[in-house]
Order: sequence, then structure tokens, then C-alpha cells
Amino acid sequence: MTFNDTFLKACRGEATNYTPIWIMRQAGRYLPQYQKVRSGRSFLELCKSPELCVEVTLQPIDILNMDAAILFSDILIPMEAMGLELEFHEGKGPIFPQTVRDQAAVDKLIVPDPLETMGFVMETITLLRKELKVPLIGFAGAPFTCATYLIEGGSSKVFWETKKMMFTAPELFHSLMDKISRCTSKYLLAQAEAGAQALQLFDSWAGVLAPVDFESYAFPYVKRIINDLKPTGLPIIYFANNGSTLLEYSADSGADVIGLDWRINIGDAVKRVGNKAVQGNIDPFALLLPEDKLRGRIKKLLEDAKDAKGHIFNLGHGIHQFTPPEQAKIAVEAVHELSGR
Ligand code: CP3
Repeated sequence: MTFNDTFLKACRGEATNYTPIWIMRQAGRYLPQYQKVRSGRSFLELCKSPELCVEVTLQPIDILNMDAAILFSDILIPMEAMGLELEFHEGKGPIFPQTVRDQAAVDKLIVPDPLETMGFVMETITLLRKELKVPLIGFAGAPFTCATYLIEGGSSKVFWETKKMMFTAPELFHSLMDKISRCTSKYLLAQAEAGAQALQLFDSWAGVLAPVDFESYAFPYVKRIINDLKPTGLPIIYFANNGSTLLEYSADSGADVIGLDWRINIGDAVKRVGNKAVQGNIDPFALLLPEDKLRGRIKKLLEDAKDAKGHIFNLGHGIHQFTPPEQAKIAVEAVHELSGR
């Protein structure tokens, strides 16, 4: 089989024979084949085993015929490499037992050498490039999203500690953001060097910020990282979840592709981001629709996105762990068939 570069063409806004699709969290718990690899070991053990990461990265490509692969890892791996203990508790998500809430804690963080501390990631990328017939997406968390986990000590709903630091100790907050950003640029450059063919920044929590606060506390760091990555020449995807109010910033971030969650009509988003490719944006739960309705939704979304400079079909956020894989398969087939030109 020859290499399928449809995804890369769409990222660059070049003409494609059909709309490419991949889905966030495509390698994960909704696939029984993933659960089999995952059973008997912890999530972090899996993340640190290159051969197994290769196996689970390939699963959605082989089973569901995705047009791009995403490196199997986690946005919190580099935070651990900065010197913090990281635990994943079954059903509770990530925990950082030592939170970062004062200058001493920020000063203690290191900006690690990616190859020395996260060699397993670069090894996974190298191995994957030998196997893959579709492009490989590398990724990292955007600094604000990563910072929330370090400051809160795990997942949060209200972000009390994060916003308290922003508003009562802005210099401390900025010093943390600066350090995370330097780590992130180095990490993504190492992924590019190892063979990643596109890079996505996940800003899962950007949407909890007022636009004015996004502009001063989060956006400058996103821009700086994307600027640091420009010399790689790789397409950069910026995904600010719940970011409909931030689209003009996203468009101005330097990214080539703007990731969209499902809360906005894709046609409206296209008008606002201008001359940029877009990625998204069906509600992950719409995968539960009966086949005819799901196909109808996909057809409408493809039509709404027709004026985009490029469109990569995706969900508006990660696939839910209880989604039947057959439904994801219906979506992939529908996108390929209905967008064929
Ligand atoms: O297929 C892929 O998308 C690649 C792998 C990937 C994972 N996490 C694997 C994973 C990617 C790109 C991520 C990104 C990630 N991780 C984000 C940004 C995207 C988003 O969802 O907003 C965030 C916020 C994290 C942090 C994280 N990792 C949380 C909050 C959790 C627990 C939540 C949950 O769903 O249980 C994880 C765990 C995690 N990361 C799993 C997977 C497959 C589940 C681990 C398991 O138990 O097997």
C-alpha cells in the first residue's frame, strides 16, 4: 500500500480526493483490542513501553481505517519529566501528589532533555514511522492546560487554585507557564526530529478563561511554542476545547489548523478563522445516533465545512470510552464515502 497523505494535504489546504478523518482518543478504552493490551499493567507502564504504544497506536488505523495516527502517550508525561510525581488512579484520572503552588515548587521544576527523560516517546515515533502508511501526529498539552493539573494536583471543575494564582500571584503563574512552555517546545521539537509529521497542541481547559484572561495568561505561550516549531515546517494544529469565544485568537496563533469542539457550527467557525484549515467537530455522543441519522449529520457537517481552506473530520472532543467501535466505523465510512470527489 502506498502512503496516504490526504491528512497532510488537508492540513496545508491543498485539494484532496476526500475529507480525511481521525478521532481524538482513537487509541483507547472503547476498543476491546486496547483493553487487552492495557490489562495487567498500569496506564503509565503502557505509555513507557514503545512496542506496546506502537501496537495500540496502530489499532484504530487497522480496525477503523483512520487517515492519521496519533502517537499513544499522554499530555502529562512531560510534566512528570519536569520532576513531579504522577499517578493515574483507576476511574479518578491523573493525580500530582506534590502540587505546584509557590515559587520554590516552580524553581524546583526542571526543563528536561526530552531524549534523556522521555526517550520512550521518541522511540515509539521512530518505530511507528517504519510501520505506518498514514501520517503520524505528535502532540503535547498547551501550557495553560498542563498548568491546571500541576496547580490543582489533578483534574478540576472550577479551577479555584489556578485562577487564584493567576489573579493573586500573576508573576508566579507566569514563571510556571514560562517553564512549562520551554519544556513543551523542546519536547515537540524532539518529536519532530524523531519523525512526527504534524503536531497538535491540546488546550483542553482554555475554554474556562475569559477571553481577556486567555489573552494575557495563556495565549502568549501558545504563540511562542508554535513560533518555536515553525522551523520544522510541520503542520501545527491548535485545539482549544470549548474555545468558540477564542476563535480569533486561535486563528492568530500561527497554527495551520484550528481544532473545533462541537459547540459551534463548523460553517460559522470557518467564516471566523479565515484562511486556515479546520479540524472537527461532531459531538462525540452523536456517534450513538442510528446509522441513517449519523450519516445525515455527517453529510450536513461536510456541507457546512465546504468553504474551509482544508477540512479534517474529527470529533469535537475525545471519543467516550463506552462508544461502540462499530459506530466509529460507520462514521469513518460515511465521511470517506460522502466526501468523495
Ligand atoms: O488516541 C489518542 O488520542 C492518543 C493518546 C492520548 C491520550 N491522552 C491517552 C489516554 C492523548 C492525545 C491524550 C491527551 C490528553 N490527556 C488530554 C488532552 C485531550 C483531552 O482529552 O482533552 C488530557 C486532558 C489528558 C489527561 C488525561 N489522561 C486524563 C484527564 C485522563 C483520565 C481521564 C480518563 O479518560 O480516564 C488520562 C488518561 C488517558 N490518556 C487514557 C488514555 C487512553 C485512559 C487510560 C486508561 O485507563 O487506559
